[in-house]
Amino acid sequence: MIRRAAVLTSGGDAPGMNAAIRAVVRSGLAQGWQMFGVRHGYAGLISGTIVPLGARDVGGIMQLGGTMLGTARSPEFRTEDGRCRALRTLNQHEIDALVVIGGNGSQQGAYALSEMGYPVVGVASTIDNDLSGSDITIGVDTALNIALEAIDRLKVTASSLERAFLVEVMGRDCGYLALMAGIAGGAEAICIPEIETHPDEVVAILADSYRRGKPHAIVVVAEGAQHDAHELAEHFAAHVDDIGFQLRTTILGHVQRGGHPTAADRLLATNLGAGAVQYLADGQYGFLAGNIGGKLAATPLAEVVSRPKTLDMSLLDLAGIMAR
Ligand code: F6P
Repeated sequence: MIRRAAVLTSGGDAPGMNAAIRAVVRSGLAQGWQMFGVRHGYAGLISGTIVPLGARDVGGIMQLGGTMLGTARSPEFRTEDGRCRALRTLNQHEIDALVVIGGNGSQQGAYALSEMGYPVVGVASTIDNDLSGSDITIGVDTALNIALEAIDRLKVTASSLERAFLVEVMGRDCGYLALMAGIAGGAEAICIPEIETHPDEVVAILADSYRRGKPHAIVVVAEGAQHDAHELAEHFAAHVDDIGFQLRTTILGHVQRGGHPTAADRLLATNLGAGAVQYLADGQYGFLAGNIGGKLAATPLAEVVSRPKTLDMSLLDLAGIMAR
């Protein structure tokens, strides 16, 4: 029986995490539980930085990016000793169950705790959208819209000067953000980690776009692409006469993580946060609360951490057709 439950955010922050914290806390309170927040992810679980959270403590945060609890990547928690210390903290504070809001690494940690017999449920949250068990994760929509706004702006200045822009977006080893930003932003070429695009191919696409009278060209490059933005930029510089366009590079980086969450992210976070608490209340431990086919769905953490998420590669062909 749960009387006291805690929530933590872990790994890279994602817009919508605050809305998820709020949903977990208020849903837990509605169950009659006392609610707590762990500061700075698993690191805080090891050091014991746990604070009580009431309904008012999570008021006014839903529209803010980042996470009010702070987050961290904790190498210590990856060790058995670290995990045992975390478990000790939970027991010392008489916390009966935990909700972990985060992406791949965070859910691996949640799985490890659940394998130690501790009641834990995950909430799918990462801008990378690389987590099995959820078609879409908290933060993706906001990060995508930030990338899109940047691309739209770059097109304006690019058109004025007949330039091509290389735009690097985040996503770690997953091309989802780059692919979607490229399609929605009308990119001429998209380079993602899942498939090699040789720099010569991109040069040919740019040169062809120039010959066909396009006033600008956009190449969206995922940070994990096999030939990254720096390599592509160097290659383009050596072929500038073939390309026609002048070339510039913009690395969006962490800018994508800092925005106010969109309505879609706030709604997803609210739904998944409330769902996670319901799973705990039902005694359904060791699951991830995700969104599959537009609906709340529980996937065993064991499956989440062992099954890589795949990307619909046919979208790359669609992007090519749209770039004519
Ligand atoms: O996982 C989210 C993410 O933003 C990735 O897209 C990126 O590779 C990584 O985190 C950056 O990590 P850090 O914030 O530690 O620099």
